[in-house]
Amino acid sequence: MKKGMFIVLEGPDRSGKSTQAGLLKTWLESLGHEIVVTREPGGTYLSEKIRKILLDPKSRIEPMTELFLYETSRIKHTLEKIIPALEAGKVIISDRYTLSTTAYQGYGRGLPLKTVETLNRIATMDLKPDLTVVMDIPDKIFSQRERLSHKVSGPDRIEREPDIFRRRVNRAYKLLARRPGVVRVNAGRPIGEIQEDIRARVSKIMKRLKI
Ligand SMILES: Nc1ncnc2c1ncn2[C@@H]1O[C@H](COP(=O)(O)OP(=O)(O)O)[C@@H](O)[C@H]1O
Ligand SMILES: [Mg+2]
Repeated sequence: MKKGMFIVLEGPDRSGKSTQAGLLKTWLESLGHEIVVTREPGGTYLSEKIRKILLDPKSRIEPMTELFLYETSRIKHTLEKIIPALEAGKVIISDRYTLSTTAYQGYGRGLPLKTVETLNRIATMDLKPDLTVVMDIPDKIFSQRERLSHKVSGPDRIEREPDIFRRRVNRAYKLLARRPGVVRVNAGRPIGEIQEDIRARVSKIMKRLKI
């Protein structure tokens, strides 16, 4: 039986997901909750191995192969990490989950959305996050952050995709943010302001779940 809370942060690379996940963790811990921060693809030994394959610029991966790799990583992550944490009453914060697959492999790669959604349901065994936050970042700010960060480390396989792919993904996120259980935050603002918004959204869910 699920007793904890499952929060997902979504959005393009460099939209600030990891930054916000860390701040959210600190706040929730100060309220006395036990927090698990995790990420997709990844989160378990096997899933992190799959992550390496997926992000390696040397990997040549067809769209459908890519979809299955993400979903394989997700099944393991959900079974081994997310469900046990929720059953133990913990709060789990995941940097990406199913919405990423819909945005990148569905809208980005152009795979049939029905196939993507079916595999998402299978891989999660129908587990739904209590809240998914989409970090929505204006294109201009996004390019600035991207230029800065690539000076430190080279782009991974997905980051090497052309701008048109990224634009499709970003547009998809705006659309997906209208789904039930999903909220959009303007991620083009100072870190503290974004965090305040996220905390307000999370507070609402905690009240509803009575945790
Ligand atoms: N609101 C913000 N304004 C300016 N820079 C930010 C903001 N949020 C994050 N950053 C910076 O942008 C980069 C990407 O942030 P990160 O949290 O790693 O994004 P993601 O996990 O979505 O890829 C980091 O260098 C981070 O310090
Ligand atoms: Mg990150």
